[in-house]
Amino acid sequence: MPRPRPLIIDTDPGIDDALAIAMALASSEVRVVGLTSVAGNSPLDVTTANAVALLAAFDRSDVPVAAGAAHPLAGTYERVKDSPHGDNGLGGIELEAPGLQRRSMHAMDLIADILRDAEPRSVDIAALGPLTNIAMFLAKHPDLADRIAHITVMGGGTGPGNITDHAEFNIWHDPEAAALVFADTGGAEIVVVGLDVTRRATLDADDLECLRRKSPRGALLARMINAYGDLHEGGWPMHDALALASIVHPPVISTRPASIEVVTAAGKHRGQTLVQFTDEARSPSSGRQIQFATDVDVPLFRDLVHTKVTC
Ligand code: BDR
Ligand code: CA
Repeated sequence: MPRPRPLIIDTDPGIDDALAIAMALASSEVRVVGLTSVAGNSPLDVTTANAVALLAAFDRSDVPVAAGAAHPLAGTYERVKDSPHGDNGLGGIELEAPGLQRRSMHAMDLIADILRDAEPRSVDIAALGPLTNIAMFLAKHPDLADRIAHITVMGGGTGPGNITDHAEFNIWHDPEAAALVFADTGGAEIVVVGLDVTRRATLDADDLECLRRKSPRGALLARMINAYGDLHEGGWPMHDALALASIVHPPVISTRPASIEVVTAAGKHRGQTLVQFTDEARSPSSGRQIQFATDVDVPLFRDLVHTKVTC
């Protein structure tokens, strides 16, 4: 058995974040070494409290939590009206609020502390919210970027957006941060799992019934997912859970090398990701190479959810 890979989860819980965190904690392929919170689905105080409460609900209060950015790099936090995650970010499901156990340091410094003792290219980061904390970490601690193996980002897409006509929520919330991360990660590989595939990574009522029967943890997640306001014909898209699944079991997605530019100009395209596949480029493209998810094995994704969320 290969040793579990250390994993930092940067997150704005978030119902699909909650499922992703549960999967990570239950996966022998990874060892969750820190959770960092960012403003996104909800203001920072709410996403941080949710991160702490989810770890307590999953009996893993030993995982350190640090709060990060309350605002995007440029501008101030604006709460989305009628968030599909509800007012408390978790579909109105109230979790017990344990005494706040988060570290007093900023998220980017907790990431740095974890990486300082790590081997080169040994730690993975799952970025499940706006990329503010990751951009701030890379700017403040560029000397530690060589410890990161992969940064898996849930964000962007080549088609229609889910917050505006052209933009996906996480990228739209902080396009300046996304542009910085996609331009330079100090050599860490970026895997971008965007709406092209996450919209297809749905769970339906039968999946929820199965989770309910499985365990109290499954039942708690099923209640949250059932309250997720983003319901489509195929079910509820579990964006962040697919990104996480691709870390613990990479064959769940197919990727192609690409470079990504982010539209940062004001206007209706702000936050759009312009993806250029470099395996078909006629001329060398500018920007870093990124692995961009183009396909998903949906039955395998559902299977991973059911087998990972066990206890
Ligand atoms: C992303 O936006 C958030 O609402 C979800 O948690 C996910 O990270 C999907 O666009
Ligand atoms: Ca999220």
